[in-house]
Amino acid sequence: MSHGLVTMSYIAASILFILSLSGLSRQDTARRGNYFGMSGMAIAIIATVFSGNVTAYAILAVALLIGGFIGARAAAKVEMTQMPELVALMHSLVGMAAVLVGYANFLDHSAGLEGAEKTIHELEIYIGIFIGAVTFSGSVIAFGKLCGKVSGKPVLLPARHWLNLGLLIITVGLGNWFLSDSESGQGLTPLLIMTGIALLFGVHMVMAIGGADMPVVVSMLNSYSGWAAAATGFMLSNDLLIVTGALVGSSGAILSYIMCKAMNRHFISVIAGGFGSAGGGEAAEVEGEVNPIEAEETAQLLRDSKNIVIIPGYGMAVAQAQHTVNEITKLLVSQGKKVRFAIHPVAGRMPGHMNVLLAEAKVPYDIVFEMDEINEDFPDVDVSIVIGANDIVNPSALDDPNSPIAGMPVLECWKSGTTIAMKRSMASGYAGVGNPLFVHENTRMLFGDANDRLQALLKALQA
Ligand code: TAP
Repeated sequence: MSHGLVTMSYIAASILFILSLSGLSRQDTARRGNYFGMSGMAIAIIATVFSGNVTAYAILAVALLIGGFIGARAAAKVEMTQMPELVALMHSLVGMAAVLVGYANFLDHSAGLEGAEKTIHELEIYIGIFIGAVTFSGSVIAFGKLCGKVSGKPVLLPARHWLNLGLLIITVGLGNWFLSDSESGQGLTPLLIMTGIALLFGVHMVMAIGGADMPVVVSMLNSYSGWAAAATGFMLSNDLLIVTGALVGSSGAILSYIMCKAMNRHFISVIAGGFGSAGGGEAAEVEGEVNPIEAEETAQLLRDSKNIVIIPGYGMAVAQAQHTVNEITKLLVSQGKKVRFAIHPVAGRMPGHMNVLLAEAKVPYDIVFEMDEINEDFPDVDVSIVIGANDIVNPSALDDPNSPIAGMPVLECWKSGTTIAMKRSMASGYAGVGNPLFVHENTRMLFGDANDRLQALLKALQA
């Protein structure tokens, strides 16, 4: 393939990636966005393979087959609720690739660069390996936290900010050593020490994050993985990788910023770590009487109400209850009731998790509202139905300054006439904090698997 054709293909792929991102930003265009992304990636791979830089076709074919097989199997097998873990794992692979490409570049002297060009190339290697190693170890810990293998509680070392600053200063010092010693080909020692420090830095950063703040960290690691890919692009002089990496890096940073705003957290404090740790005191214990309810009584309550809001959470995803929810919604709407959905920005385990499930069940978009659009309406709502949600409806986020989720905006459903909370037990949610909503005087607990209970409710409503 001629150089011009390769460049043209890279430009086409970049445009397709941009179209893909814009498509993915809306539910009704998301499928098209995915197709754009897939076509862009296919063009990118074909153009790179035939760009003339590749000589070992057999190795490449084997690698493509193995990678493609693992990727396809993982995507086919993964449950919707495990998606964030898979994404975290993928980010770690991008980080690892950046580290490996960095070392390969450092050890390969065939380019024969001199002077300023050589220094710039070495700087690319150093920064690329640093970002890659932080992304790798941070993502592995995030994976552990998301699937419960690593505790969700923040691990806060004493003077951790000073520790981080110290590590950063040492990294800069090592960079200086690396650049001056690489003249004589001796830069491997500072490079290896820096890699170790970067790995520790990634672990420390994510370990310090408390459960409820993991969404911000996952999107931040997404951004880091983009910058790691861009750094790899610089090392390999591959324009497409630079553009793609920058797209992922900047869109991840924008998403992190949006998430920070939604969670009422400061962007800088995410990067420094240590959220979800709140003030110094102990969070208040939840005490009070639990008021259970059965499906038949819930059905009667709904028959008597006009204005209903449904709040889905992670438990709806676990129970795969979205289709039954849609059936109930259709029935209630046909009876002339006003039914709306309230979506918290971090409901479930990934951005847009609830929107995806509701769209899959064909719930109309125009009755699905974001938190900011609906939160003020709760005093006029007759019944709120909380389906497998916990942290996102926890009033202690607003009332208890010592709560690990203090300051996070929540859906204020306790202001409605009655709240029906559906879950299997009194267990806490992802952040591991007690929830006073479940013992609130207006709350009735409908215990059991969400889908099972909703089926019973649907039956009772149809009776
Ligand atoms: P959670 O606070 O995790 O609460 C989910 C509740 O669902 C649990 O208390 C559980 O109680 C219940 N549940 C589980 N399986 C169920 C089933 N089969 N039937 C009925 N109930 C079931 O979820 P949330 O309110 O959606 O909040 C999300 C949390 O995840 C936040 O802390 C958020 O920060 C965090 N997080 C979010 C993301 C993103 S981007 N969305 C990413 C990572 C982490 P029982 O065990 O008693 O049933």
